[in-house]
Amino acid sequence: MQQTSAYYQAVERHGVTRFLEVNPLLRDGAFFYLCTLRYLFHQKAPEHAWHSSRVGQQVGLILDPSAAFAADLHDIGKLGIDEAILNSKQRLTPVQFVEMQRHNEYTRELLRRVEPHGFPLLSTMAASAHDYRRRRRMPITFPDRRRNDPYLAIVAQVLQACDAFDVFIHGRPYQPPIEFEEALDKLRQLRIEQGLVEEIRDSHRFRTRSVA
Ligand SMILES: [Fe+2]
Repeated sequence: MQQTSAYYQAVERHGVTRFLEVNPLLRDGAFFYLCTLRYLFHQKAPEHAWHSSRVGQQVGLILDPSAAFAADLHDIGKLGIDEAILNSKQRLTPVQFVEMQRHNEYTRELLRRVEPHGFPLLSTMAASAHDYRRRRRMPITFPDRRRNDPYLAIVAQVLQACDAFDVFIHGRPYQPPIEFEEALDKLRQLRIEQGLVEEIRDSHRFRTRSVA
């Protein structure tokens, strides 16, 4: 997958430069708030929290640290979802499914608060993991008003693909995992950008080798 120069300019604009402009005390407070949310998420729903962490690691091997940080927090809104739904061993009922989907708005709400304090676009990037996703039948895109931002479009696509891949190979409480090669084939059917599946394959191998 080819990152454009606009992508690198956006990393610079959204990342390092803005980071230096904020009040360090507020930035540290915001960081502490995020660490607390993350800690609570691991306490409440460890399986879901580890999934988020793995997606963050994988995105970090493909993109930049801001995108990895957002990916690590992309499911943090599940803090607002009933544990019975999060840990259900049965396929979710339509009502439960709708409730589960709401975690994306909670993610956006929880993360939006820190954006002015050194974490620009954090909520937008994190929530893009699930925004407008119709993984099985439609191409993965980033269709809201930011569709012309090449950085966010790439982040959304990589995050969605890494999220889907992790769910394939680790399963869900109600859904068994599938084999690595089969998961890659399923990703190829998602009409994602050329080369991204190979990057996911390589980064997964690298990641699992380095933690083994
Ligand atoms: Fe996820």
